[in-house]
Amino acid sequence: RILVNEEVVKKNKLWPNFIKAKLGFRNHWYPVMFGKEIEEGKPVKAMLCGENLLLNRIDGKVYAIKDRCLHRGVAFSKKPECYTKETITCWYHAWTYRWDDGSLCDIMTDPKSDMIGKHRLKTYTVQEAKGLVFIFLGDIEPTPLINDVPPGFLDEGRAIRGIKREVGSNWRIAAENGFDSTHVFIHKDSKLIPNNETVIPLGFATDREEEAKGTLWEVVNNEDGPKGVYDNIGQHAVPVVEGKVDGETVLRPVIGGDKRIANQISIWMPGALKVDPFPDPSLIQFEWYVPRDENSHWYIQTLGKEVANEAEELEFEKDFNEKWEDWGLRGFNDDDIWAREAMEEFYKDDWGWIKEQLFEPDGNIVAWRQLASEANRGVQTLEDL
Ligand code: FES
Repeated sequence: RILVNEEVVKKNKLWPNFIKAKLGFRNHWYPVMFGKEIEEGKPVKAMLCGENLLLNRIDGKVYAIKDRCLHRGVAFSKKPECYTKETITCWYHAWTYRWDDGSLCDIMTDPKSDMIGKHRLKTYTVQEAKGLVFIFLGDIEPTPLINDVPPGFLDEGRAIRGIKREVGSNWRIAAENGFDSTHVFIHKDSKLIPNNETVIPLGFATDREEEAKGTLWEVVNNEDGPKGVYDNIGQHAVPVVEGKVDGETVLRPVIGGDKRIANQISIWMPGALKVDPFPDPSLIQFEWYVPRDENSHWYIQTLGKEVANEAEELEFEKDFNEKWEDWGLRGFNDDDIWAREAMEEFYKDDWGWIKEQLFEPDGNIVAWRQLASEANRGVQTLEDL
């Protein structure tokens, strides 16, 4: 099986590793699910960057192993059997492994086997933060989680709530959909606009002078800390409020009110977006486009709110359940989901990266591709699976 067309990679001189990263990046932290999805002693499977994982909670702590028996390669998740809290036994020939270090500690069908104690399953470092379960997918010593999340996500006093969905497009298309300035056009009928008394322009007219000055986006690529790109088009370009064809105005945005949202949009390695504020002036949206396999991603959407105490957090949770999930994460972002799925066909054989014809406001997307191509800690390949 060939994952990426080498001919396409060779044609691109500016961001070749981005084209190669169809299955995402290695040696980065990715959220795979919410902590509440993993109950004590009940293994759950997850797919990340093409790898099959099995997660379990033991005495409150989450562990992750590769979901593939060393003996004949079957998935433990077909029929997870755990006879002690700390181990999992393969349903086929009873090879038994420890959750914490993956070691083969017993083989029930042949207790004297020389294999015992000599082999080890791949295990993954796990960290729970803000209700999300992050996995470090890689081979090096895990880096600090704070370098792989958008700035502010882990701040003390910021309550986080969210949802997770599986979407049928490659993760890169999703990341670019989120960071694409002029895709606001698809949201013009969103119920968020009247419901939350806000307004969204039809697009942004870029200023050639600002473009030449390089102010339309800003790359952050420091040695230590998160690496990302800020989109400044909202500040340096003119919002379009009349849609014209042949000089005739044919479309005007719905004006629901004067609440200002989405002032600052930024994208961060290994594939997370921060929209500040969104979908309300009191909230920030942090969302991840987590590679599942080459044609699908986990869309992990969260909202953050600064809270001073538990009562404020409960109030936020109530609003999240009654308004923000429906108006924002679903009502607004459902448009993004179908847009990504509509792009998948064009890019799935890789030639879309060559055939596309980008226009002026796409400069921030190109800056992101270059950053991702250069600043990653490794590209996931078929050999890694
Ligand atoms: Fe797992 Fe044989 S395949 S023990």
